[in-house]
Amino acid sequence: MSIKYNAMITGVGMYVPDKIMDNAYFEKIVDTSDEWIVSRTGIKERRLLENGATSDLAYKAAEDLFKNHNINRDEIDVIIVATVTPDMLFPPTACIVQVKLGCKNAWGFDLSAACSGFLFALQTGASLVESGAYKKVLVIGADKMSSITDYTDRNNCILFGDAGSAVLLEPTEDKSMGIQDSILRIDGSGKDAIYMLGGGSLNPPTHETVDKKMHYIYQNGKAVFKVAVKGMADVSYEIMEKNNLKSEDIAYLVPHQANLRIIDATAERMGLSKDKVMINIDKYGNTTAATIPSCLTEYYRDGKIKKGDKLVLAAFGAGYTWGSTYLVWSL
Ligand code: UT7
Repeated sequence: MSIKYNAMITGVGMYVPDKIMDNAYFEKIVDTSDEWIVSRTGIKERRLLENGATSDLAYKAAEDLFKNHNINRDEIDVIIVATVTPDMLFPPTACIVQVKLGCKNAWGFDLSAACSGFLFALQTGASLVESGAYKKVLVIGADKMSSITDYTDRNNCILFGDAGSAVLLEPTEDKSMGIQDSILRIDGSGKDAIYMLGGGSLNPPTHETVDKKMHYIYQNGKAVFKVAVKGMADVSYEIMEKNNLKSEDIAYLVPHQANLRIIDATAERMGLSKDKVMINIDKYGNTTAATIPSCLTEYYRDGKIKKGDKLVLAAFGAGYTWGSTYLVWSL
């Protein structure tokens, strides 16, 4: 049976808190330097949400989208929130966002896939739209990474920031528009390289789990770096081959923003010059599920992408989770 609809992005929005943590701030709290951070990661600043939770980041990003695209919130069918920092283990953050937004006709859920969360949520939302069952699906990536970051651990604390960003998916019968293809993967053998051990059913919170700092993100950066470089570059190249895309066909690579060196390696494998790569890691660091949609929002608002542009989105994260999506910009 051929699918009648494609899912296309018809709105974008984002929110970052005002409070900036620059590299000079980290020079004061851990043994690091601006030079080390910039040369190893590409990060200059990140944002900190001092009061509030992930649902606030998600809610404000969605409000920004509604305002800029004149969306009637009663028409939202589904809200998917990709996050690894839910407000609580339950209820789902999507429910908290739904009531804040007043989307009274929506259902929804959270999706946990770490730094690949937005790509996985985008594909999930696209499938709901392509089925013909739903017409307006809000896909949000939001993470308050500061809530799980150990600010005494120089290996990790310099990497992460807080942000939320959202896209709206709607159906189109024009098959040349919107999401064209996705290659998504998981490999649980990566579970020992990047994780948060405490707080779940394996290690429910106790004084001991807190004393052992088990409620913070841990990663073996070097190990993750190696597989991330290969994983993100391979899957991005694979989606190009599968869709007969040459580097000159692609307007932008939209990579997860974990490390500029991982992004550069992916672009190189795809044969793309630096001006064809969306970057905002310098301003926000790694905001986990919010990196890709916030790049889309900023580049769209700066007039750098236009309708018909071919984009390749790519991510790699904890799990391991990774993947790549090819879409034709429709705004
Ligand atoms: O988004 C989810 C997926 N995560 C990723 O994709 C992250 C992947 N990993 C990375 O991006 C990089 O591995 C890091 C940025 C985390 C680290 O960069 P690296 O070039 O792999 O550094 P390293 O871990 O090999 O550490 C090199 C040195 C070490 O010192 P020695 O052992 O050589 O004396 C570290 O202790 O740098 C030291 N170091 C630091 N020095 C100054 C580690 N963190 C810092 C720091 N400032 N903040």
